[in-house]
Amino acid sequence: MKQKGTERSHQNGHGREIQQYGTVVNRPISLDAKVRQSNCEKLNQILADSMTLRDMYKKHHWQVFGPTFYQLHLLFDKHFAEQVELVDALAERIQTLGGVAIAMAPDVAETTRIPRPPRGREGVNVQLFRLLEAHEMIIAATREAAEAADENGDQGTNDLLVSEVLRTNEFQVWFITEQMAGTAIDEGQGESAGVPELAGAGRGRH
Ligand SMILES: [Fe+2]
Repeated sequence: MKQKGTERSHQNGHGREIQQYGTVVNRPISLDAKVRQSNCEKLNQILADSMTLRDMYKKHHWQVFGPTFYQLHLLFDKHFAEQVELVDALAERIQTLGGVAIAMAPDVAETTRIPRPPRGREGVNVQLFRLLEAHEMIIAATREAAEAADENGDQGTNDLLVSEVLRTNEFQVWFITEQMAGTAIDEGQGESAGVPELAGAGRGRH
């Protein structure tokens, strides 16, 4: 049985998909459909995670407080804007490969692997920790996808992942880690900093 909304939208002539998510259409760019399909899957995961990180930066931009409010308020917005650029580049790479870029918040929420933060405000250290955790997941997936793209001959995807996604995320991690230097989290005392649920995650995993 179809949902009411779906029926109505069909009646209006909208909502009919011309390409299903997870498929690739032909693109004469001298890359097998199999290669484009496989790279699109990896890119969509990184895209969903990047959209989540992008939104987390805005959440923290709004909700940060304390003595470092102003500098973090500005830094978080700078990183947000850089993630916006990456999101667009990733999505357009997927479309270039003939795939369908994930786009809407409910679909992103179902796909991302980044843990969902609460709606309410969290302390500055927890905010920074969540950002680092998200960055590290994206960095790991980006390295893996870049290597796969290199092996399957998709240099364009490899270049985007290494030159833009990887470098930007690594650079942002630098700023966030320097910001937390000298804090309880930096010294591995997450629990005493009031973040027991996050303690250890994203640190020393490699
Ligand atoms: Fe703002």
